[in-house]
Amino acid sequence: MSGLLHTRLRGLWPCHARAGVVLALALASSGIGKSSAARPPPLPRDMLPASLDVDKLPRGLDGPRAMPPDNPLTSARVELGRKLFFDPLLSRDRTVACASCHDPSHGFASRDPVAIGIEGKQGRRNAPTILNRAFAASLFWDGRQPTLEAQATKPIEDPLEMANTVEEVVRRLRAHADYPAKFRAAFGEPPNAANLAKSLAAFQRVLLLGASRVDAFRAGEVTQLNELEKHGLWLWESKGACWKCHSGPNFTDEQFHNTGVSWGSADTGRDGVTRADADRGRFKTPTLRGVAWTAPYMHDGSVATLEAVVEFYNKGGRANPNLDASIKPLDLDAREVRALVAFLRALSEGEGPAGPLNLPPQSAPAQPAKSGDAKK
Ligand code: HEC
Ligand code: HEC
Repeated sequence: MSGLLHTRLRGLWPCHARAGVVLALALASSGIGKSSAARPPPLPRDMLPASLDVDKLPRGLDGPRAMPPDNPLTSARVELGRKLFFDPLLSRDRTVACASCHDPSHGFASRDPVAIGIEGKQGRRNAPTILNRAFAASLFWDGRQPTLEAQATKPIEDPLEMANTVEEVVRRLRAHADYPAKFRAAFGEPPNAANLAKSLAAFQRVLLLGASRVDAFRAGEVTQLNELEKHGLWLWESKGACWKCHSGPNFTDEQFHNTGVSWGSADTGRDGVTRADADRGRFKTPTLRGVAWTAPYMHDGSVATLEAVVEFYNKGGRANPNLDASIKPLDLDAREVRALVAFLRALSEGEGPAGPLNLPPQSAPAQPAKSGDAKK
């Protein structure tokens, strides 16, 4: 894992992390908080359509979206949240936006194994997709925030992400040429901490991905999946037992499970929230819609490809005393691994926030596993 991590970092931060060497040694492989003097990466541009549909649920997604009564979805709130989401004004040194880590061109997730914040500071977890988080029962890999509203201001104040304060952001917004009028139109009042969070939450609630070929197949259009993908779906529901946790319309039970991914590392997941021994090593089941766009995988970004993910399950995860009862060696052969990956790719196409989403058959984001990742 640390090998992968460092390779990625070197690619992105060519000045290397000289300052972090001592710290990195002290923290073994974690490197948390390591920073680099390299110039900040360019900000992702807003390529979404001019207007976003507030009411539309793509096929296969089942409502209702989790929505607090005091934050009804309106176009004004969504459009304001959208502007804020792409605006580096939220970060202390004005270099990092929400979109920097939740990149629309990367399935609203990050390319980096663990998130990189201001001044190149390295965080401790992978930035997951924010697609379909409208259906979330809790937020973050350990579920420590209950709603998108409660979550929205956390990255602003996280010292390894935007390293700002909410008060400072509100001050900047009030002094801004455009924002005060937009807040008034959306909320009837000037910017404040609560409506900042509400607008970011409203925008994220319309970031939906559905209407994949898997949904069409399940609705009776049986020609929508090819033989390999159908075999993948069958394995998903039988020998693979993937459905046990990645269940329901959004392919997650919104629960916490121990698959052993980072067992032995400092990050023990859900037990940091509950202080319960049984939760040691448990992390939230992520949605798998759009998953082919969001490599690398898992809460620590330690798995590079979908093939390697399926091989991880095939071996029965990583053995540990808290391993979930549903995680066991699967005895899948090479074709079965390919079939499950083909199914996950079919699930990653469909109707996204920017329109139809199709994976190119050749230059797919999920590259074939390197030798050693996948065994015959
Ligand atoms: C420096 C990178 C970074 C920035 C900037 C950032 N995030 Fe994140 N985001 C992360 C990481 C890492 C996680 C997972 C953290 C964890 O689970 O402890 C995350 C998790 C989330 C989640 C939870 C997703 C889930 O499935 O539970 C949401 C929602 C979210 N971010 C929204 C935002 C918003 C809104 C902003 C801007 C205000 C933002 N993020 C800025 C890195 C970032
Ligand atoms: C016991 C519950 C459980 C089962 C069974 C299960 N998963 Fe998972 N899955 C999880 C959890 C929890 C995570 C996140 C683990 C982590 O990051 O520590 C995850 C992560 C993933 C990811 C990475 C997604 C991302 O965005 O990083 C993929 C892909 C995935 N699972 C596919 C599968 C497939 C394919 C199967 C069947 C072979 C399967 N899962 C079976 C619970 C489960």
